Amino acid sequence: MKDMKDWNKIIIANWKMQLSLAEATEQAKEMKKLLAKSKAKTDTAVVVCPDFLSMTEVAKIFKGSDVILGAQDTYPGDIGAFTGEVSLKNLQSLGCEYVILGHSERRAMGETDEMINKKVKAVLERDMVPIVCVGETYEERKEEKTNFVVIHQIYEALKDIELKPGQKIILAYEPVWVIGSGQVIDANEADRMSQIVRQSYVDVMDGQNLEALSIIYGGSVTPDTVARFTSLQKIKGVLVGGASLEAKKFMEIVNKA
Ligand code: 13P
Repeated sequence: MKDMKDWNKIIIANWKMQLSLAEATEQAKEMKKLLAKSKAKTDTAVVVCPDFLSMTEVAKIFKGSDVILGAQDTYPGDIGAFTGEVSLKNLQSLGCEYVILGHSERRAMGETDEMINKKVKAVLERDMVPIVCVGETYEERKEEKTNFVVIHQIYEALKDIELKPGQKIILAYEPVWVIGSGQVIDANEADRMSQIVRQSYVDVMDGQNLEALSIIYGGSVTPDTVARFTSLQKIKGVLVGGASLEAKKFMEIVNKA
């Protein structure tokens, strides 16, 4: 796979189920154009995760460009009788390199820690990069369970993971109560949480493979707030929902990161 180098920044668009096929292809074309024209931050990974339906068309547009293709989920098994699922083999055949796993919107639909763990293993098996999302709900934060929840989610997602040399893992801290809310957490809190995420990773990996880890932040990130997070020492990038749906706005985030 072409993308195993150490990126300075990682900026990821999660288009969720927000765009029609026509809109997705239009935004993809625009993004490719804008990225080619931008002051070319060649050390920034720009990853776009469209929905599965748009994936084939978007893949054709991104082919040969600097935009990297990612997926919003996958199934932890190879080609087979799994109605409604999309295999990593097919995703990879389109050039997909990153896969979002355990997003809070999927956890809310019943995705279990055990399933997320299987998916992380399957993604690594194919030398792709898992983007594992963790984060607490508003209730959990109110009950002062934030640290516990995040530590637990990381332990469960990365249980019995063995990394081969050169493999990467992204842990995305996304406070659930901030997603889509227009609010963002302050820099101190993001910094504190990034340390918890890092320490949990160190613990579960037994002190190994620290070089494989990148931590990113997600939750209502905009061009105005991105630098608050990417300027923190332990935060390498952002995972963007709403503000990634318009190529121009997303590229502003890329350029300000
Ligand atoms: P928003 O940027 O819309 O808050 O979404 C964040 C998110 O869930 C990215 O995965």
